[in-house]
This record gives sequence, structure tokens and C-alpha cells, in this order.
Amino acid sequence: MTMMKKLHMSAAILALSTTAVAAQEVEVLHWWTSGGEAAAVGTLRDTLAAGGIGWQDMPVAGGGGSDAMTVLRARVTAGDAPTAVQMLGFSIQDWAAEGALANLDALAAEQGWNDVVPAALQAFSTYDGHWVAAPVNVHSTNWVWANSALMAELGIEQPTSWEEFVAAMEAAEAAGHVALAHGGQAWQDATIFNSMVMGVGGPDFYQAAMVDLDPAALGSDTMVEAFQRMETLRGFVDDNFSGRDWNLATAMVINGEALFQIMGDWAKGEFVNAGLTAGNEFQCFRVPGTEGTVTFNSDQFAMFNVSDPAAQEAQLAMASAVLSPEFQVAFNLVKGSVPARTDIPSDQFDACGQMGMAQLAEAAANGGLFGSMAHGHANPPAVQNAMYDVITAHFNGEYDAATAAAELVTAVEIAQ
Ligand code: GAL
Repeated sequence: MTMMKKLHMSAAILALSTTAVAAQEVEVLHWWTSGGEAAAVGTLRDTLAAGGIGWQDMPVAGGGGSDAMTVLRARVTAGDAPTAVQMLGFSIQDWAAEGALANLDALAAEQGWNDVVPAALQAFSTYDGHWVAAPVNVHSTNWVWANSALMAELGIEQPTSWEEFVAAMEAAEAAGHVALAHGGQAWQDATIFNSMVMGVGGPDFYQAAMVDLDPAALGSDTMVEAFQRMETLRGFVDDNFSGRDWNLATAMVINGEALFQIMGDWAKGEFVNAGLTAGNEFQCFRVPGTEGTVTFNSDQFAMFNVSDPAAQEAQLAMASAVLSPEFQVAFNLVKGSVPARTDIPSDQFDACGQMGMAQLAEAAANGGLFGSMAHGHANPPAVQNAMYDVITAHFNGEYDAATAAAELVTAVEIAQ
């Protein structure tokens, strides 16, 4: 980041309150521990440091954030809430409903957040009409990441149908490569499942099953077909997939061991962190069958209620920095996501970023934008976790596709 931008940002932060900020620091609980994620955290830490705000790191490893949320609950129960917490969708709503989150209305009004944060995000950043979180980005989860050299070696074009996708994986396997890099963890299985539901059933079905939790959709033949596609994918992962962290699966595509990975665009942060370029060493395309739709999740920072005025100042300074246009660019270039703000030009982003921003805007405009079930934007944590259990049990062969669909109906019913 150029000194000019640092100074500009520090000016923006300092403008908030010069006296208190100097001695301030924020303790931030998050789950950004992979190479690309840590680099992105660094942009925030540096931004705050430029404004004289210290950073007390509270990382909780574990992609998807379930472990971080468990640690958070324990800290709050012990009366020791962190200053700021990375949080997703329905979790923000749950904590706000408990009255645990600080009100950011004054800052939001001062900085015009209403005009630049899309409605789909505001649905989670606000509770009861009040701002309770500052959105950092928009991730989308229905991406495939591909190794260009392997694509060329195998003579494969970007698949545009499920059948072409399967044929590409068959070709990779026949040539002795891992076709699909994957980490066997419930949230990763659910991230793939998210796209299978959209790919097989389309937007209306995704809405009915994953958002409206309609038992008829959850137990339908279409859902059975989605589980059958999971079985097909299960046939293309390597023997050592179980328990693997997502970024280690991404590394398999980076180093040419594997052809594809289905994962949210935080995976792009790993390619970028490895010095690779979108469109050159790696490619990104929507999971075949989900083109024209975007399943999203947004990382947001929720500020816990604290009584110390100095800590409150630091929280406001952090929220202000997070929504600043300069930071939205700096962070998202590294993280792999796209800005939460709608007024950021896309020309600074790489080919995948530009495609992501254009598709997000299009999907938001034509009803193709949906909250990611796997990442807390389609239903509350209890329902999400119930779905996780069924999806991962099926992926690990505990039951067949028809039984999985029936189990899903029961699990969701119990969890509501
Ligand atoms: C998601 C989060 C992303 C990324 C991913 C893997 O839930 O929104 O920012 O960190 O988990 O850990």
C-alpha cells in the first residue's frame, strides 16, 4: 500500500477522534489463518496501525468459522467479549437479538453506508433497523478453481455443463492426476453441496429447499439427484481427503497435483498469495449448472458492547476503516473476495475479481443472488449445522442419496 493511501486512511481514521485513538487497540477474534487469509488480516492490521490503533490478534483456526463461534460463546459467557469479531449472516442476527452488539447507526449515517452497501448485505448488517456490523467483503461460494497447465495438458476447455465437468475429471483421473481436490470437513462438504442443489434444481428450488426449508423440496427427487451428484464428486477425490484443511486442497491445484477444487473465492487468496495470476496459472469459473446465480456470504465485523469509552472509540475507528473505499480495495485484492461497497471500480481487480463483481451485480439485479447455506446466509446456525451433519454423513458413505434426502427433512424439522 502506498504511503499516500496509508496517510489518506490514517487521516480518515484520525478524523474520528484524535485524542482517544492514540492509545487504543482492538482485540479481534477471527478465523483467518491460511496464507492468503493472514495476508488479508495484515492489510487491516496495517490500516489500523497507520491510524495509531493497535491490533490484538485472536485467531481461531478452522475454516468456515464454527470453532471461532464456539470460542466466542465461551468468551462472552465468561464476561470477556473481544472488541470485534468476524461474523457471518444469521450469527450476527442471533447476537444482535441477544442485545450483545454495539449500535453503529451514527457512523453509518455519517459515512452513508445505506447508499453503498447492497440490500442483500444490509439484511445481515442491520438488526431491527439498526446497524450492528460493518461488512468487509462479498465472497461467493459457487466457484471452481482450475490448474491451467493441467487443463492444457489434458486438452480441456472450461466445462459449461455437468456432463463436461464430469468428463474433465474423468480425463484427469485417467492421466493419473487427482481430479477434485477436497478437504473432508462438514463445512467444505456443505460448500460443494450448496452448488449441487443450485446446479440440479435451479434458483427456485434452492430458495424452496435451502432458504424456505420446504419439506417437500428437501425430500424431493431433485434433492436425491443433488446427493447423487455428491456421490459422483466423492468418486473423484483422493484417498487422503478426510479432514484436510481447505487451503491444503487449494495447494494441490496450485502445485498441479489436482485439476479442480470447488470452493468459495477465499481460495483465490491462496493463488494470489502464491504469486499466481488469474487467467494464467489458474482459472476460475462458476460450478457448472449454477451459471447466472451467485451464492454469497459476507464477512462482517460485529462490535461487542463494551463500557470503556476508549474501546468504543477504537471500535468506531475500526468500523470506519473497514468501510473506507481504500481499505475495501486493499483487503479484497488479497482476500479473493469482492468489495462490500457497490461504488468501487472493478478495473483494479484481476480477471476473476472483475467477473465476480459483474456477476454479483447482475445476480442482485435479476433475482439470481442467494445466501450461501454453507456459510450462514440461508438459515440460522442450528439448521445449518443439522444440514451439515446429514451432508457429511452421506459424503462419507453412511447412507445413500434417497436416505440422505429423507434424513435432511427430519434433521431440519428437528432443528427449527
Ligand atoms: C468463510 C469466510 C471466508 C473464509 C472461509 C474459509 O466462512 O467467510 O472469509 O475465511 O470461511 O475459512
